[in-house]
Amino acid sequence: MIPEGRIYATPADVCAAVAQEWMLLAQDAIAARGAFHVALSGGSTPRQLYERLAAPDYAYRLEWNRTFIYFGDERAVWPDDEQSNYRMASEALLSRVSVPPAQVFRINAERADLKKVAMDYSRLLAMTLPLAPNGMPQFDLLLLGMGDDGHVASLFPGTDAAREQRKLVMPVYVQRLNSWRVSLTFNVINHARHVMLLACGNSKAAMVRRALRTAPVGEPLPVQCVKPVGGHLEWRLDQAAAALLK
Ligand code: 6PG
Repeated sequence: MIPEGRIYATPADVCAAVAQEWMLLAQDAIAARGAFHVALSGGSTPRQLYERLAAPDYAYRLEWNRTFIYFGDERAVWPDDEQSNYRMASEALLSRVSVPPAQVFRINAERADLKKVAMDYSRLLAMTLPLAPNGMPQFDLLLLGMGDDGHVASLFPGTDAAREQRKLVMPVYVQRLNSWRVSLTFNVINHARHVMLLACGNSKAAMVRRALRTAPVGEPLPVQCVKPVGGHLEWRLDQAAAALLK
């Protein structure tokens, strides 16, 4: 087995289970602190989760007026671009539930000065999120997908952003895709109370095995740097992604 990990038959089962966990974590956070602060991820599996949360059984039961939505990363495109994580989350979830628009904080990565975008988002996190005992902004739940190359959010292997120890948000140039993105750094990711890493499909199997079964040689892969301080990293996999773990 994997530490704090669960394996489900299909991606739909993964999403059904995580939707249920979202609800319980939201209830706990609202009972304890009056609000639920969650960071969304891009990617195909999270999309299915958002669609699940937008279905009536969750859409009407969740307390959207106490839910605050952020993003773990964004591509440097307009918010209505097909590549935009905001657009994806909006279509799959945000436009279909009653979350107040003022409680949705997208990363304005369409702007030209991405350093400024990153600084502004850092400030926003520092001003609007609850703080951990050491003063760091703290999400109640941070969702991550994982790329086949071991990236999480937009922290790609070998990038400065994946090594950053101090800043909260950074621009990232992704050579492989010849494009810019803006991403939260491990500094914020690892202060979340709960980090849930969703990976489905056989294209993820080799990287899941590498992340969970091998010690890093040299610089660790970004996925191996997800180590919440005092929190929990919870893997949620389907059987195809977990196929090489046995
Ligand atoms: C993004 C992400 C990224 C994504 C993984 C997995 O904006 O692309 O946030 O980290 O979650 O690449 O994506 P898939 O689930 O589509 O493979």
